[in-house]
Amino acid sequence: MNRTRPPGPLLSISALAKRFGGVAALSDVSFELARTSITGLIGPNGSGKTTLLNVINGVYPPERGTVMLDGVALVGKPPSALAALGVSRTFQNARVFSTLTVMQNLFIPLLHRAESRRTATAGKAGELLGFVGLEQFADQTASELSGGQKRLLEFARALVTGPRLILMDEPFAGVHPAIKSTLIGCIKDTVTRYGASFLIVSHEVPDLVEMADAMVCLVEGRVAAAGEPNAVVRNERVIEGYLTRGNQ
Ligand SMILES: Nc1ncnc2c1ncn2[C@@H]1O[C@H](COP(=O)(O)OP(=O)(O)O)[C@@H](O)[C@H]1O
Ligand SMILES: [Mg+2]
Repeated sequence: MNRTRPPGPLLSISALAKRFGGVAALSDVSFELARTSITGLIGPNGSGKTTLLNVINGVYPPERGTVMLDGVALVGKPPSALAALGVSRTFQNARVFSTLTVMQNLFIPLLHRAESRRTATAGKAGELLGFVGLEQFADQTASELSGGQKRLLEFARALVTGPRLILMDEPFAGVHPAIKSTLIGCIKDTVTRYGASFLIVSHEVPDLVEMADAMVCLVEGRVAAAGEPNAVVRNERVIEGYLTRGNQ
């Protein structure tokens, strides 16, 4: 498909608020995410990063605010509906089905799809395994993969529905450097080959600065700074609220 891309951002988040009891996990969070881009999401532990992904992904309804994907309101839609709209997700601890084969794992997101769509996507599943370098493991059970390889498998599975927006929660945490560079290469290639956009939570700030087109920093559930990555990491609120405070 060679459609002209519509103007404006892919994702617009406006005035989001989410509480857990007395804890304001997100307060008045607003930012935009460009098409075909990588945005890094940083901030200390407990600053609301995972909650933000969960709200975008429909796991939690926000008390206030809107999330618009290409002009379509996402709030109130369940994760399955969001997958159909082109939102995909990986988790802080890679979630794979360890008793299934590597290839079978890729079909999980397609189970509720029409048979014709499934057949059309079977070829793509093989292509995606090659894309992340796991093709030789296709028929092994996922439990035989290393932790890093499970992350690559989870990443390939996130692509199988052809998403426009991929949310990733700490994809590099505890990952061997070789797998990390494979994953970073795959993320960049996904932007150029498939035209997708990423919102990536990570504490690996230098890597994010290198790969991201934009950065958002949350501190205590609020946007401390957003914009060009180098400007964000030099921002005083980011330095005080995160970078000199450590991750904890
Ligand atoms: N399901 C939940 N129930 C209660 N409190 C939660 C829940 N999820 C997150 N929180 C709280 O919301 C705040 C933000 O958490 P989280 O989004 O996980 O932060 P981060 O991912 O930046 O470390 C924290 O104070 C956390 O304890
Ligand atoms: Mg988190």
